[in-house]
Amino acid sequence: MRKNRLRLVGVLAAVLVAVTAPAVQAKDEPPTLAELAQRHGRYFGSATDNPELTDAPYVSLLGSEFDQITPGNGMKWYATEPQQGVFDFSAGDEVVNLARANHQKVRGHTLVWHSQLPDWLTGREWKPRELRAVLKKHIQTEVRHYRGKVFAWDVVNEAFNEDGTYRETIFYKTLGPGYIADALRWAHQADPRVKLYLNDYNIEAIGPKSDAYYKLAKKLKAQGVPLHGIGLQAHLALQYGYPTTLEDNLRRFSRLGLDTALTEVDIRMYLPADEEKLATQAEWYRDVTKACLAVRRCVGITLWDYTDKYSWIPAFFEGEGAALPWDEELRPKPAYYAIRDALK
Ligand code: G3I
Repeated sequence: MRKNRLRLVGVLAAVLVAVTAPAVQAKDEPPTLAELAQRHGRYFGSATDNPELTDAPYVSLLGSEFDQITPGNGMKWYATEPQQGVFDFSAGDEVVNLARANHQKVRGHTLVWHSQLPDWLTGREWKPRELRAVLKKHIQTEVRHYRGKVFAWDVVNEAFNEDGTYRETIFYKTLGPGYIADALRWAHQADPRVKLYLNDYNIEAIGPKSDAYYKLAKKLKAQGVPLHGIGLQAHLALQYGYPTTLEDNLRRFSRLGLDTALTEVDIRMYLPADEEKLATQAEWYRDVTKACLAVRRCVGITLWDYTDKYSWIPAFFEGEGAALPWDEELRPKPAYYAIRDALK
């Protein structure tokens, strides 16, 4: 009996050595952005997209540096319900499986958006009753599929115009502004535990567009609608100036009892990049990171992919780019070191 116990202790000790040895080795490596962020109770993530997942060095860095992933396209309506009532979760599942293997959290992106909709949805007129049923089914089927696999959903994406009026999307035009509360309620029914966000760009600073979110969020909270957070995409551009009211803005949403997150961060510039622009970009990355750390309910930061190799910017803004903390050869730029500084 005693001998057995001794043997067991010996085996356990050997296992312990085996398990802790890599950790001791890893001590010499600089901590990752994820590890640094975790010390503040935050995550540090990156978007990714399915075609990139064949790039081994890219995937390796994605798996080691970050503790959160957002699929850049794979969970959007065109990908998940390409024909009415026919669901395809293969692209999103691939990202979720990768995240699981790397012990990363996943933000679900996105359930209701005017862009990247399937043709069957945009190619015809809908009666309000029909579109409500289509929307409810889409939301609930997708949220149920990813229940327990994503910690948050961008339920409605980009619902407002720059001046704070509602964007005239197919959903708004057919169903009126109440589609937002309905979408949140339907998502909550399908997964009562997942955090539900509204997400948009150009709402980092206080202004008409972020005011619209503030007013809507306040109203939804007062009505008991399940809204848990506001996602600020933070697609910034050097030529438009830094959003100096970012921290105050995050704080006012916190005071409503909401989480906030910086969900799609990139900081673009006119090309070619030079030392000065890269230094300014680094400062902005530092400031954005510090703003999130300064506000308790800002839960984390996600880059809209981490390398210039896979950035959406050059294809959408002619002559602009170099927006991310790693360059096209996956080498860290000044921005990467600035983020580290801010997290230390
Ligand atoms: O899937 C087709 C492929 O079959 C075709 O060969 C190829 C040729 O251009 O296009 C592919 O579709 C592209 C799609 O991404 C998937 O790669 C579209 O052209 C392209 O427009 C689309 O861009 C995405 C964009 O959303 C669409 O608005 C970006 O990758 C994606 O990063 C971007 O993400 C959005 C967020 O969802 C919301 N916030 C803004 C952000 C940046 O636009």
